[in-house]
Amino acid sequence: MFVADNYTAAILLRRREMEPVNVAKGGKAIPHPALRAPRIFADTATFNDIKPLFEAGIINGLTTNPTLLKKAGAKSWDEAKKIMKNLCDYLKPYPVSLELTELTQDKMIAQAEELRKLGENSVIKVPVGGYTAIDKALDPHTGLKVLRALWERDIRTNATLIFNSTQAYWAAQAGATYVSPFLGRLADFAYKNDNPERNPGNSLYRIDDHKNAKGDQNVSNTEYVASGGARKDIGIRLIREIAQVFANYDIKTEILAASFRNFAQVSEALQAGADILTVPSDILMKVADHPLSDAGMVSFVEDSKAFT
Ligand code: G3P
Repeated sequence: MFVADNYTAAILLRRREMEPVNVAKGGKAIPHPALRAPRIFADTATFNDIKPLFEAGIINGLTTNPTLLKKAGAKSWDEAKKIMKNLCDYLKPYPVSLELTELTQDKMIAQAEELRKLGENSVIKVPVGGYTAIDKALDPHTGLKVLRALWERDIRTNATLIFNSTQAYWAAQAGATYVSPFLGRLADFAYKNDNPERNPGNSLYRIDDHKNAKGDQNVSNTEYVASGGARKDIGIRLIREIAQVFANYDIKTEILAASFRNFAQVSEALQAGADILTVPSDILMKVADHPLSDAGMVSFVEDSKAFT
């Protein structure tokens, strides 16, 4: 399990310069105690999931992607755009991330301009890498170039599919407003590939020179390997690494921790210094729940009957 340590002071100083989140309206005698608390976004495109969370004040932003839009029922780009527009309208003025689906720089910039028109609160989500996995002829630096081009056009961006701290650093260099490290997919990877024989190395990097006997290993993890595969927190370690790098260099790009699987990861991401957490709606629906809260309420309500 991840344990926070003394890098926290640097993170705190960085957060102090970030935009306040819970700003009290004029005339309040009690200032809000969580002025710069991390913001929580919902990671969904399904309107019915969002409404109860937004009404409860649990979320103040949204992230979507093509998979989530498909899940929300979009069967064409026009339908996807309609859903994205409704989400932007509903969440206004809070940010809604809308992902590009084009794969070349000029088309991506044109599509970003198209998505930007869906709402002033839109944020354009740009995959930072993975282009050559789709087509070897594509430019591997497409995402970074698009991030920079959109920054030059004053368009807010969310660099997505981040799996190591250098991807995050380069996205920030390119001008990304947010970076989205996918901590759950990293943890999934560690569980699926639980192989203590792996060579030590920095897991969050591709290291083609450290292959296993089958020649198929291209990722490993120092702490994970050192603990014989017992530690599965490489996703949280990634948040911590990015927070430390950004704090070291006063980088204002916000760390938008994504791809959550459970409450433990939510708590760990908060400890690790994430600026924003985007969490699936089924997890968010249960934030006020605990079996002992249930038991406590049952007894308090039962005992309060003595007063009627
Ligand atoms: O915001 C990114 C997120 O949607 C990815 O989550 O659950 O598909 O790994 P997941």
